[in-house]
Amino acid sequence: MRNPAPCALLLLLVALALTQYCAGSHWLQTFNIMILEYGIWEPRFIQVGYVDSIQFQGFDSKGGTARMQPRAAWMGQEPPEYWEKETEEALLLSERDRQLLRIMKHHSDQRLNGGGADYHTLQEVFGCNVANDGRFLRGHYRLAYYGYDYIILNENLSSWTAEGKAVKNLLNSWEAEAERWRTYLQEDCMERLLRCLDLGKETLLRSEAPQTLVTHRVRPEGNVTLRCWALGFYPADITLIWQRDGNNHTQDMELPDTRPAGDGTFQKWAAVVVPSGEELRYTCHVHHEGLPEPLTLKWEPPAPRIPIMEILIGLVLGTLVVGTVVIFLVWKK
Ligand SMILES: *[C@@H]1O[C@H](CO)[C@@H](O)[C@H](O)[C@H]1NC(C)=O
Ligand SMILES: *[C@@H]1O[C@H](CO)[C@@H](O)[C@H](O)[C@H]1NC(C)=O
Ligand SMILES: *[C@@H]1O[C@H](CO)[C@@H](O)[C@H](O)[C@H]1NC(C)=O
Repeated sequence: MRNPAPCALLLLLVALALTQYCAGSHWLQTFNIMILEYGIWEPRFIQVGYVDSIQFQGFDSKGGTARMQPRAAWMGQEPPEYWEKETEEALLLSERDRQLLRIMKHHSDQRLNGGGADYHTLQEVFGCNVANDGRFLRGHYRLAYYGYDYIILNENLSSWTAEGKAVKNLLNSWEAEAERWRTYLQEDCMERLLRCLDLGKETLLRSEAPQTLVTHRVRPEGNVTLRCWALGFYPADITLIWQRDGNNHTQDMELPDTRPAGDGTFQKWAAVVVPSGEELRYTCHVHHEGLPEPLTLKWEPPAPRIPIMEILIGLVLGTLVVGTVVIFLVWKK
């Protein structure tokens, strides 16, 4: 069996990582992907930069020019020197990742076209989150080889967690790396993020209130799932809470991660299972900065059907009967 094409894999990795690190008001995230395909000598290096869920710049070594390119309109305000510097940094990183890939390939059991693999991948994801008051909230760094082996910077940004033979080998020499990444995440990454938020403020600092609704679904065993939806909101921070008779009903609440809608906005839902007939005791509460005040929603039972056909038929029959009586009376006279 062949592996999925590198490009499909790349998209999947990006999508997974985005939802994983979305928490926090605003964040900056960089993805580096090095792909070494069987039969192709030069590995391909791709870098994409996201602020919140919006791509703002990108680099692809396969492109003829191999330069860092703006991917968001507001990045056009950056001077040529910025793009020179970013291109230089991307090239340095790609050189470093190429060496890492070669080292890992050497130590790993995966063999090109031997273990059924048609390509090797090295993936790096790192970024920082800023708190509402503009301070550094947290940072993350993760390097994955071939999807299985990985090394993660611990949350305190001072030590590593590693899994897999190829990566554990790195650990010995990576003590100083943690320090380097901590400085990068707390300083350079934050500086870049704040600059992006300033340049793209009309896009990134806007707030779009969620559109909300409650759906109702009868389950096979007879209970009812009430699902409270929030769609098309920005930024990602939102609170959805179900209450029963005015008390928080969080313990049985299903609440998946907030997910990007793909158009720069976000989606989320919260669901509870309730006994049929008790739906109206439950309310959903939505807090979001785009709302002037928190919303309270309830399931709205469908309005009782108005029997228009019956009324029409009744009217027609009534008219016929009255008409017949009148005609009869006139005829009799
Ligand atoms: C950082 O966190 C890791 C794992 O949680 C822990 O093993 C390590 O001792 C911590 N280091 C410091 C300096 O707190
Ligand atoms: C209900 O949950 C919300 C959000 O977690 C919390 O802010 C609030 O204080 C809770 N209310 C009660 C009565 O526990
Ligand atoms: C759902 O139905 C089952 C079986 O009828 C019942 O035991 C359970 O308590 C119900 N759950 C809720 C939340 O009403």
